[in-house]
Amino acid sequence: SVQTSCDLMVFGASGDLAQRKLFPALYQLDRAGLLARDSRILAIARTEASEQEIRVRLKERLQELIKPDEFDDALATTFVQRMNYLQLDFTQTEGYSALNEWRAQNNQLIVYMATPPAMYGVIARNLRAQSCCTERTRVVVEKPIGHDLDSSKVINDELAEVYRESQLFRIDHYLGKETVQNLIALRFANNLFASQWDQNHISHVEITVAESMGIEGRWGYFDKAGQLRDMIQSHLLQLLCLIAMDPPADLSADSIRDEKVKVLKALKRITPDVMEQTVVRGQYTAGTSDGQPVPGYLQEEGAIKGSETETFVALKVEIDNWRWSGVPFYIRTGKRMPEKMSQIIIHFKPAPHYIFDPDQKHLANNKLIIRLQPDEGMALKILTKDQGLDKGMRLRQGPLELTFSETFDTERIPDAYERLLWEVMRGSQYLFVRRDEVEHAWRWVDQIIRNWHDSGEPPKRYAAGTWGPVASIAMITRDGRSWYEDA
Ligand code: BG6
Repeated sequence: SVQTSCDLMVFGASGDLAQRKLFPALYQLDRAGLLARDSRILAIARTEASEQEIRVRLKERLQELIKPDEFDDALATTFVQRMNYLQLDFTQTEGYSALNEWRAQNNQLIVYMATPPAMYGVIARNLRAQSCCTERTRVVVEKPIGHDLDSSKVINDELAEVYRESQLFRIDHYLGKETVQNLIALRFANNLFASQWDQNHISHVEITVAESMGIEGRWGYFDKAGQLRDMIQSHLLQLLCLIAMDPPADLSADSIRDEKVKVLKALKRITPDVMEQTVVRGQYTAGTSDGQPVPGYLQEEGAIKGSETETFVALKVEIDNWRWSGVPFYIRTGKRMPEKMSQIIIHFKPAPHYIFDPDQKHLANNKLIIRLQPDEGMALKILTKDQGLDKGMRLRQGPLELTFSETFDTERIPDAYERLLWEVMRGSQYLFVRRDEVEHAWRWVDQIIRNWHDSGEPPKRYAAGTWGPVASIAMITRDGRSWYEDA
């Protein structure tokens, strides 16, 4: 059968992640018939509440979060019945004995730590002390694994004290997005692209992950991290790896992760003397979002005056290897951008000899636009002759367009967490981040943070609702290029 009977323990069950992402994802898996009948869920949190209260609250929450046509009252009722509740202080070893009693010996045990990372080691040790882990236990942890290389090693060491690497599922939820997985299919199933995918044919690559949201209620967490740690260290470097990696020999977790690590190792160092040209750090001020006035980062609820945490980063990244030498990757990500939009653009080099109208020369290169969200799909920009007798040999650029929802009549794109939980249940690690990936990513990010710290330069301001500081535009213009805008 495709289903595995699982006992899933969710630490931090009343937290935002569990409530907003995990439980809805589990409900969806249940709805899709992917949760085995005897799979059970144990919600664990500090909150004092009865099991009945927890079930009622969760059902209400599901109703709120799930689209009306995907919400089935009867199913939601049976779903919440799978759930038990345990009130527990995670630091108290004795309390963990209840976990052992709850566990059904024959089910696959999955421990999901939806808690602050400082708790991972504590929970792992307490589980071990109560003999509540087996060789087969799978453990799921969330980012951030630390705030720099050293602290990530501490956390990884604590986990490694109790679990083997093959038991650890480190989440980067971008890897659970269908469109991100599709990068693997796009690159390695289409020989058309495979043969073009290097410095001979590609001039540069753009990766944009923009959010229109501000910080909304998570100022305390975010301010300690900032956009570089929160988004670049994880999601954007993962995207970059999937675009830049060499073909893996197969789809096994380690074949893929080995190739990603090679990319991370080849990232060119960003030394203090090139910071000015290659890194832009921004923080939003008051502006607008969807036409409504919104406060600046420093006026958000809970904000501390004078914080220099960045909410925007743009980088020019180079990869020092045979395939990518001389091909810049311009990457940018920010809060309070004009829209929520993630896309990757591959700019191919122009034809070696240009014979058309000199005025149109800037048009004359192919681009592959990969839309990760929203409007999932891709477009290959192709040059054609403009039609009409009076047009001579004027060129025109048009898209070969693939919008997933239209072309494939996709009913529903599963949320990243559905895919990831499903892969944990199947025991497949290929969408999870290996320890050495985390560490190489930190090593590279750390040097940028160190440079910021040494220079003492504050972030550049940008108004909410814009594409970041003008310096980000200057960074790419300096190279005679511009951030792609769909014409
Ligand atoms: C999270 C970050 O990992 O990703 C958030 O911590 C960010 O700051 C979020 O908002 C973005 O994810 P998505 O799936 O909405 O693009």
